[in-house]
Amino acid sequence: MKIKAILYPQSASRLVLRDLPDVHEVSAVDAEGRLTTLLDGPSSQLVLVEDGALGDSTLQQVEEAVRRHPTTTFVLLAQHHTPEFLLRAMRVGIREVLRVPLAERQLLEVIERVEAKQSGAQPPHACQVLAFLPCKGGNGATFLGANLGWILAERSRVLLIDLNLRFGDALSFVHDAEAPSTLADVTRHIARLDAALLASSCVRASPNYAVLAAPHDPSEAMDVTPADIDALITVAVANYDFVILDLDRSLDPVAIRALDRCDRIYPVMQASVTDLRNAQKIKELLRGLGYPPDRVEVILNRHDKGSEITLEQVRRALGSTPVTTVPNAWVDASTSANRGDPIAKRAASSSLTRALALLARALQPAELPRGWVARFFGRGA
Ligand SMILES: Nc1ncnc2c1ncn2[C@@H]1O[C@H](COP(=O)(O)OP(=O)(O)OP(=O)(O)O)[C@@H](O)[C@H]1O
Ligand SMILES: [Mg+2]
Repeated sequence: MKIKAILYPQSASRLVLRDLPDVHEVSAVDAEGRLTTLLDGPSSQLVLVEDGALGDSTLQQVEEAVRRHPTTTFVLLAQHHTPEFLLRAMRVGIREVLRVPLAERQLLEVIERVEAKQSGAQPPHACQVLAFLPCKGGNGATFLGANLGWILAERSRVLLIDLNLRFGDALSFVHDAEAPSTLADVTRHIARLDAALLASSCVRASPNYAVLAAPHDPSEAMDVTPADIDALITVAVANYDFVILDLDRSLDPVAIRALDRCDRIYPVMQASVTDLRNAQKIKELLRGLGYPPDRVEVILNRHDKGSEITLEQVRRALGSTPVTTVPNAWVDASTSANRGDPIAKRAASSSLTRALALLARALQPAELPRGWVARFFGRGA
C-alpha cells in the first residue's frame, strides 16, 4: 500500500529521505507554510515533523492538525529535544518520537504500523488492555489494578504488567514471594519474545493470573524503550484475554507507548483538591494524546459519602468523563496488601471486593458469573 506522507519542514527531508522508500508519496511544507493547509488536501497517513522547526505557533498548528486528522500518525524527528519539549510535543498529540540520526529500519517500522492500520490488518482485538494510573502517589491504583486482575482471572487469562519501572510493587499485592525474573529480563531478550518466554518470565498469582514484575534494580529501567513495550504488549494481547498495565505518573515515552495500546484507562483519584486538579490535567493530557474520550474512566477510590469533596463535585469538575466510586475499606485493604493476599480471597464479603467485582463484571459481561463472583450476583443474574 502506498502511504502518503508529509514532511515538516521541507528541510527535514535531509534527515529521512534515505529511509523513506520511494514507493511512498511524500510532500513537504516549507517553514512558512501552514501544515493544516497541506493536510486539507488528499488524505495523508503520516506526518513527520522536525523538532528544530517547532516553535509555539507550529506546535499550535500541529495540535490543530492532530485534532482534525485523528487517524493520521504524527512523528517527531527529535534532534534538539529536552524532556520538557518532548512532553509539550506529546501534549499536542505527537505520539511517536524518533531520534535523529535514525537507527536502521526505525522509520520503516513506523511505516509498517501505519500500513497495518490502513489495511485493517491488525488482529481482531479479543484482548482488552487496561491501564491504571494514580493521580497522586498512594491513591490505590496498583492495589485496584492488581486485585481486579485476580478477580478477572476467575474466568479469563489475565496478565498484569508492572510498568512502575523504577519502584514497582504490583506483585506484592497478590503474591507473597519475590519474582525470579522481571520485565527487565524480558526486554533484554525482546527479539526472541514469544508466548512461552513471556509466560515463563511471569509469576503465577493464580492458575490464570500471570504477573510480570517490575525490574528489581531501578537502574534497569533506563534500558527499557518504547519499542520494547510495544513488542511486549503485542505478544501479551495475542495470548491473554486481559492485559493490565500498572503505571506511575511519569507519563514518559514508554508509558505513552503503553497507553497507545490501551482500550481503557483508569486514572485513580481520591476526594481531594490536589487529586481533582491532577485528574483534570491527566484528562487533558490524554485528550491531547488523541485518545477517544470514552476510553477514559476515572476511579474515585476510598470514596466516603461524608467527605468534604462530594461525588457530584468530582463529576461536575470532570465533565463528560465517567466516574466510578470504590469505597474506603482501610482494614481490609491494608491487611490484604501487607500479606500479599488478594482482597477477594482474604475478604470476599468486603465492600471493596464487591466494588471490584462490579468493575470486573462490567468488563466481562457476556457470560454468567462463576466462582465467588456468583455469590454476589447469583447464577441467573
Ligand atoms: N479502597 C481502598 N480503601 C482503603 N485503602 C485502600 C483502598 N485502595 C487502596 N488502599 C490502600 O492504599 C495503599 C496504597 O495503594 P497503592 O500502592 O495501590 O497506590 P498507588 O496509587 O499505586 O500509588 P504509588 O504507585 O504512587 O505507590 C494500599 O496499600 C492499600 O492498602
Ligand atoms: Mg502504584
